[in-house]
Amino acid sequence: MLQQAGRSDILIAGGAVIDGTGAPRRRADVALHGDRIAAVGDLSGWAADLRLDASGLVVAPGFIDMHTHSDLALLINPHAESKLRQGVTTEVIGQCGFSPAPAPDAHRDEIRALFGAWGRHVTWGWGSFADYLDALRARHTSVNVVPVVGHTSCRVGVMGEESRAPSAAELSQMRSAVEAAMGDGAFGLSSGLVYAPGMFADTDELVALAEAGASHDGVYFTHIRGEADTLLDAIAEAIEIGRRAGVAVQLSHLKAQGRQNWGKIEAVLAAVERAREDGIDVTYDVYPYTAWNTGLGQLLPSWAREGGAEAILARLSDPASRAQIRSEIAAAADADPGRWEQRLLASVDSQANRPLQGLTIAEIAARRDAAPEDVVISLLLEERCNASMVGFGMSEEDVRRALAHPLAMIGSDAAASAPYGILGKSHPHPRSYGTFPRVLGHYARDENLFPLEEAVAKMTSRPAARLGLTDRGRIAPGMAADLVVFDPDIITDRATYNSPHQYAAGVQFVIVNGVLELQGEEHRGRRAGSVLARS
Ligand code: ZN
Ligand code: CU
Repeated sequence: MLQQAGRSDILIAGGAVIDGTGAPRRRADVALHGDRIAAVGDLSGWAADLRLDASGLVVAPGFIDMHTHSDLALLINPHAESKLRQGVTTEVIGQCGFSPAPAPDAHRDEIRALFGAWGRHVTWGWGSFADYLDALRARHTSVNVVPVVGHTSCRVGVMGEESRAPSAAELSQMRSAVEAAMGDGAFGLSSGLVYAPGMFADTDELVALAEAGASHDGVYFTHIRGEADTLLDAIAEAIEIGRRAGVAVQLSHLKAQGRQNWGKIEAVLAAVERAREDGIDVTYDVYPYTAWNTGLGQLLPSWAREGGAEAILARLSDPASRAQIRSEIAAAADADPGRWEQRLLASVDSQANRPLQGLTIAEIAARRDAAPEDVVISLLLEERCNASMVGFGMSEEDVRRALAHPLAMIGSDAAASAPYGILGKSHPHPRSYGTFPRVLGHYARDENLFPLEEAVAKMTSRPAARLGLTDRGRIAPGMAADLVVFDPDIITDRATYNSPHQYAAGVQFVIVNGVLELQGEEHRGRRAGSVLARS
């Protein structure tokens, strides 16, 4: 249908529009005016300041990365290079229990330490959640940001790294901290229940805080208490928290970890469907890889991870506790043959160990002529706990099943990266650069796991609906002008485990809030992203 001629700032002409709802693509032009979509259809009579030729290309809503750790990365490098070049226009931050705010004076250093080496590379000038959002705004990021407040940060802000239950007074202070962040615009509360000290929270503590996070229709995002042998119990706990707190639950980076647990995704999905039938609004996000990424310190027994980095380093330096830790690491590896071939050292902090990034623990052990458990302990000491690892732990079949389910949304679980500067020195999981093109290219196009329209819905309208972003995630008049134009035949992830700093191929244009931010290989650096606040 030819629409009455109008004026636009940008006209995207001749593309195949995939509108984000899952509807089949259709040939249409898209006109943008200011930061909004003005019209969609046959706009051949329209004038435009800038006309972008999208013939042969797909025009989709900008992708929403449902689970990221870009909280500090965006302050270090506001260009969000690795994300923007995948077509991501919005990142959800503050996940897995970790948000940089609130950071009250009394515990600021401990909260900063939760962020490892990157904590040193930013000027930590905020206290309240609102102050942190102002710091992000002042940085003018290339992508929009959806902030979530972390349970662990709120806990540390009140009771430090203590490995015990809070008193009634402490719990009520934590509640007030969550409520204040919600008032400042947070979209909900996140938890990280495998990491110290978040893991010291019992279910009651989480229910109390998830209730506070449910105000303003907030969501409870959770890295559940176990993704391996205790996976089904951990899912049950998350659902219980949803029921008792009356809050929507977003299971983060859904997976079944460890060979003995492969196949359990089916039971997880059945539990989620049952919970939904009972009226608990559970959904989840997932990344399209069979390897995870976490701190190297997670290899330590849980008792040895209490108390923060200084306490851990003291234990590793004490001969008696070191011997105990060493034997527990060795016993866990004995129970999991091949473990050291399947764990890569990812990022380190020191210049000296940078050549080891990307090698397996087995390879480093051979180079150093040392036992793998000693290598782990020495690396933690050398890096002062600022080291991460990648582990191959999931089955391809489970990843496919989790991706394909209609409740799935796509989340990278990664910070925005860049091949240069401070971020370029790290060795990220390839998901930082490849998540969205891998779903579109590898899984939708090459493997036919689902239609491209369904893949796009998982990264646009569904996360937008979950977040309550009523004006994003779809292409329709009046919606925010966040758009990606990509070549469906070319779109591909290029980042690998050994060589992660590789931009994706096939993304032609990215527009954020009506501003052309990426044009082919060129990042235009207009930094038109906004910090979105839940109203
Ligand atoms: Zn997590
Ligand atoms: Cu995470």
